[in-house]
Amino acid sequence: MPAVVLFGAQWGDEGKGKATDLLGDQVDYVVRYQGGNNAGHTVVIGDQKYALHLLPTGVLSPNVIPVIGNGVVIDPSVLLSEIDGLAARGVSSERLLISANAHLIMPHHRAIDKVTERYLGKAKIGTTGRGIGPAYGDKIYRMGVRVQDLLDPGILQQKIEVALNEKNQILTKIYNRRAIDAGKVLEEYLGYAERLKPHIADTSLILNKALDSGKVVLLEGGQGNLLDIDHGTYPFVTSSSPTSGGACSGSGIPPTRLTRVIGIIKAYTTRVGAGPFPTELDNEMGEWLRTTGGEYGVTTGRNRRCGWFDAVIARYATRINGVTDFFLTKLDVLSGLETIPVCVAYEVDGVRYDEIPMTQTDFHHAKPVYEDFPGWKEDITGARSFEDLPANAQSYVKALEKMSGARISAIGVGPGRTETLQINPLI
Ligand code: GDP
Ligand code: IMO
Ligand code: MG
Repeated sequence: MPAVVLFGAQWGDEGKGKATDLLGDQVDYVVRYQGGNNAGHTVVIGDQKYALHLLPTGVLSPNVIPVIGNGVVIDPSVLLSEIDGLAARGVSSERLLISANAHLIMPHHRAIDKVTERYLGKAKIGTTGRGIGPAYGDKIYRMGVRVQDLLDPGILQQKIEVALNEKNQILTKIYNRRAIDAGKVLEEYLGYAERLKPHIADTSLILNKALDSGKVVLLEGGQGNLLDIDHGTYPFVTSSSPTSGGACSGSGIPPTRLTRVIGIIKAYTTRVGAGPFPTELDNEMGEWLRTTGGEYGVTTGRNRRCGWFDAVIARYATRINGVTDFFLTKLDVLSGLETIPVCVAYEVDGVRYDEIPMTQTDFHHAKPVYEDFPGWKEDITGARSFEDLPANAQSYVKALEKMSGARISAIGVGPGRTETLQINPLI
């Protein structure tokens, strides 16, 4: 009954899509447990490239049942266009199950996300503008509209009217925007209901029964550890729990059933949006990493901020999530460098920190303490076992493993399915 969590161990975009896809033929269910269409997960299969936002990556594996768990916020128009886009490429989403308890992103969530960011000015978070924060806000505020409400037009109408009664006041009186027409929203969402109905299910019940009968469930996170609402670089975070704890609350699978926690981690670091990033390289080197690694947002197209590997945040990910295995991605991007600095600790006002400082203020002032590792010149994209790697690449990986606190069980040397070195089995 293995239930395996796969999550991002940095600030997102670590290569979760590729890692999930790689395990596609060893699992029966792939469950997204939080986030929404702020995520952009890339999968490269042969000459085909897919960018998934709401659909679990398992949709690309014909024998996997993809599940959108209760912890996800769903923009139905985006989900349906994603389903249609895949259908046009011959990929069926017929097997998709959607939790009746997942929340819906409504037009007022998108409107409020955009306008509040504008009002924050310099203090803005740099959100994806997809309505994620306001949708989770209303969930916690107990004013959300859930997937199951699509099944009862009377309740749906009531919930939309109650929400818009308040939100229209905010939109018109605080932000000087136009009010949203409840009737039109109802009509639009009833249209989505027709198409989504066959997919709506009690997914927690289905998943627990599947585990009872020995099936393998993979829980696929969006975003990453440092974007977690509790454990991330608050307030520069997303509004959900991408950490392994969130995998349980976001799927209805209890912690006692988790058998493995796989942290996806890049051989360097990136971040999109605002917030602290101690190893950021705001210079030519950073630009080189961006260009060589293709570090441009899958969802918003924004440039990703780039920097060296940070072992302090890797250790932090191990601690918060109970990482059993790391999947180290994009090692190939570092080929050709003379030396590769790795951040092993921070210095704040002359004091050394081996762990993330307790306060936001100190983390903002953290200066990386670097240790230099010798690079390698060889192209490693053809490597298929650890022994195929040049000696310096092997030493780099071994050093990261030692500093991160959990074994590295797989290494990515290219975006394709086969461009992976498997050291230990992941399932
Ligand atoms: P996710 O959000 O964690 O799924 O990651 P993204 O898809 O946003 O970004 C990761 C990018 O790196 C994608 O373009 C992947 O195709 C690519 N990628 C994943 N693993 C590797 C790897 O090992 N090497 C290289 N060169 N690219 C990779
Ligand atoms: P994947 O799953 C990287 C960032 C945004 C912003 C912050 C809050 O592809 O790794 P939100 O719209 O969620 O309220 O924005 O979180 N962010 C991501 N950064 N990868 C992602 O997803 C992200 N999803 C959100 O850039 O800084
Ligand atoms: Mg991404």
